[in-house]
Amino acid sequence: MHQFVVKDFEQWRVTARQLRVAEVPPDEVQFLSEHEPGLFATSTPLTELIPAAEVAADFRVPKEFLQLATDVGYHRDAHRWELLYRVLWRLTTNEPKLLQLATDDDVQRLLMMQKAVSRDAHKMKAFVRFREVIQDDQPHFVAWHRPDHRIVRKVAPFFSRRFKAMHWTILTPDESVSWDQHQLNYFDGVDRSAAPTSDQLEELWRTYYANIFNPARIKIKAMKAEMPVRHWATLPEASIIDDILQAAPQRVQAMLQRSEGFATSARDFFPTSPATSLIALAEAAQRCRACDLCCHATQVVFGQGPQSARIVIVGEQPGDQEDLVGAPFVGPAGQVLDQALASAGLDRNELYITNAVKHFKFEQTGTRRLHKRPDAREIRACRPWFEEEWSQSQAAVLICLGATAATALIAPGFRLQQQRGLWVTSKFCKHTLATWHPSSILRLQDEKHRAARFEELVMDLRCARATASSI
Ligand code: URA
Ligand code: SF4
Repeated sequence: MHQFVVKDFEQWRVTARQLRVAEVPPDEVQFLSEHEPGLFATSTPLTELIPAAEVAADFRVPKEFLQLATDVGYHRDAHRWELLYRVLWRLTTNEPKLLQLATDDDVQRLLMMQKAVSRDAHKMKAFVRFREVIQDDQPHFVAWHRPDHRIVRKVAPFFSRRFKAMHWTILTPDESVSWDQHQLNYFDGVDRSAAPTSDQLEELWRTYYANIFNPARIKIKAMKAEMPVRHWATLPEASIIDDILQAAPQRVQAMLQRSEGFATSARDFFPTSPATSLIALAEAAQRCRACDLCCHATQVVFGQGPQSARIVIVGEQPGDQEDLVGAPFVGPAGQVLDQALASAGLDRNELYITNAVKHFKFEQTGTRRLHKRPDAREIRACRPWFEEEWSQSQAAVLICLGATAATALIAPGFRLQQQRGLWVTSKFCKHTLATWHPSSILRLQDEKHRAARFEELVMDLRCARATASSI
């Protein structure tokens, strides 16, 4: 029996080719994965088996086999290399059409493995969630993921295309990968099976991994002192990914069917239980990845307020402060809103306040994050969250602040300048009204103009209050 320790597909390919040329039959070969080698496993030197001259000899394998073998190479099954060699042998001896025999046990196993790898790759594309960590004044995006198979190298190029202009790192138990805007670098996995929470991930990054990428900062002693299990020992059993998968099998399925890997509707992330509360909804939204905004923002900012609220107020999207705090309308626009609510005699605690888009969209200029309007695709992707918020609430009045909310929830052609303050019937509510967004008031330079607009906002809110209490 000849033994070979194989580290990846390329190494298997070279070895298998030479073995095939030397006509070594499959039952005389044992392939061991580099990751799970038997004790004392050593490779038989190929030169012992094959006279050099013969290596040049050739044989053909169907193109589909190469693709199949490449994919199966990412599978975790310890016997994959042997299985591949057996199929290669059969294909190149007397069964050239073997791959068309889907009923053949070997072929069937390979196809199932290929499918599992492809599904796992889609899952990774959809669920990797980056957390921004500032390192040497530069943002670095770090994510943790636990794939079922050894697919990091299969999927990494996708992330390098998608997040080309970012520095990012994906840590996994098997192997980790980093993108420095030019190339992908692979390094050791995080040798634990539990998943760090977002905060623990950041700490782990700062105390250990950041050093790996900055040789000037390596402090071996500090690393040794920091690395021990203390960051990991207290982690919950279930990983983030397991939670998602258990909670949402059919949504995962729906996502896997999308070729891009990124879902396009927030509905894919809804809680599975039909009796959902606003709290469960807010919790589920934390995991939403239905559009790209989640990759850059700090956290989702879901609506806040009692389920029994009579009035629902919808803004555009969280701003800088909201993004950091995790609550709607707590920054400068929030202050204007608070003043207007007070002037209108409304108690904020009795309202449900939310946004059309739940993640902050911004453009980084130096250290500042400047608000950017969400585009139609993002608004559409996020809309199901509002639809569900609305159907969970018992409100009788819906107020849209600004054009984004009004066009998203009332009608695409809604003209705020002309229709502000008028009651309209929307798909959601018979008593819907759009009014000025507090940020638009803040933006006005002219003081008189600003005061007038603020008064209009107050008037509209007062009107909403009267309507809500009369129905
Ligand atoms: N602007 C909004 O539209 N929503 C917020 O939550 C904050 C500012
Ligand atoms: Fe999901 Fe909305 Fe965030 Fe996009 S903005 S990821 S749709 S919550």
